[in-house]
Amino acid sequence: MVLSAGDKSNVKAVFGKIGGQADEYGADALERMFATYPQTKTYFPHFDLGKGSAQVKGHGKKVAAALVEAANNVDDLAGALSKLSDLHAQKLRVDPVNFKLLGQCFLVVVATRNPSLLTPEVHASLDKFLCAVGTVLTAKYR
Ligand code: HEM
Repeated sequence: MVLSAGDKSNVKAVFGKIGGQADEYGADALERMFATYPQTKTYFPHFDLGKGSAQVKGHGKKVAAALVEAANNVDDLAGALSKLSDLHAQKLRVDPVNFKLLGQCFLVVVATRNPSLLTPEVHASLDKFLCAVGTVLTAKYR
């Protein structure tokens, strides 16, 4: 998935606007993923997945921080996400289909929390970015 210069600046702008609320976006995206695609819960048997769960909030913060880091290093996603790529592909072995599901949920969270931000062009750029992140996180399966 190749991001154009315009895509990259759109992605940076989105995360710039989200700013300090990124943690909440991450937690909302997870909550939405677990509710809409319950099969994703199988990777989190050790988590309390109830509404308002502190574990989901904490994990949302980590996921959001990784996305911010990726957006800040959009020219070197593989480098920026290298450790996470090892973790997801080699240890967690998350089926790659699930990355599309979380990506969709993140997009919906942006749309609901900040509708004016998600123009069709920004939607397309953010979708490409989230797909590219998923591709990197599942690149080391063997
Ligand atoms: C852990 C990011 C997608 C399942 C993590 C961690 C981060 C992260 C930052 C914490 C790593 C650490 O503690 O060192 C991401 C990003 C994703 C993504 C940026 C895509 C945008 C997924 C998906 C699943 C998943 C789709 C499964 C449905 C897990 C699990 C853990 C984890 C089970 C370990 C949780 C724990 O025991 O604390 N992920 N992740 N991830 N991720 Fe992901």
